[in-house]
Amino acid sequence: MLDNVPNMRDQFTKFNACQSNDDLKRDAGFLKQVQKIIGGLGSLVDSLNDPGQLQASLERLAAVHLNFIPSVSVEFFEPLERKINIFIEQTLRVDNNSAESKAWTRLIGTFNRVLKEQTLQQIGISDRDRKALGSSRKLLTTGEDGVRRTGISLVLWMFNNILNVRDRFTRFNPNQPDDALKADPKFLKQVDVTI
Ligand code: HEM
Repeated sequence: MLDNVPNMRDQFTKFNACQSNDDLKRDAGFLKQVQKIIGGLGSLVDSLNDPGQLQASLERLAAVHLNFIPSVSVEFFEPLERKINIFIEQTLRVDNNSAESKAWTRLIGTFNRVLKEQTLQQIGISDRDRKALGSSRKLLTTGEDGVRRTGISLVLWMFNNILNVRDRFTRFNPNQPDDALKADPKFLKQVDVTI
């Protein structure tokens, strides 16, 4: 992996992963890491007959890597998915159409899908944000014509507060006074699209 996954060596802090491979083989920190990786792969293979357990193992392994700072994400595991077959083929002396080689590629591929999903959830919206967005949208848009009213004030607010936004519009004259804009059907169309 260290030889085949770009920049993987730079991610380790508990041992010097940039030593020669011979030195690494004698390094206690490296050997400890090897045990962890082998253990992690073992936990996946051992749970293959138990989908719930397999999912839990995949999620745990994904969360562990995503939570490192800096996180270890698909930028490392995708190259691993692309190349793991080569290791299997060389080590087991099987060809690249073999069931073994394909199965390992698929296992890492499955892991990558879990990793991607968790990455999305992590950079996505927390439950707290979700609630705050939902309730404030309700407040902003209730009442007669609430959506349109909020839309007009939001777009006018943007025009007056965000540099150069106003000048981007060409289908109506964005430099009219606010009151004239409010009466301009093309401006109102823009409001509806924005909101
Ligand atoms: C399928 C392959 C892999 C498995 C099964 C695996 C498994 C593990 C496990 C079990 C740990 C220990 C987690 C803990 O301390 O709780 C770990 C740590 C770590 N893994 Fe992986 N790993 C894999 C591939 C990779 C790759 C491709 C990278 C690329 C950078 C990576 C980077 C790390 C790092 C930086 C740590 C933290 C080491 C430390 O304690 O400083 N792993 N890995």
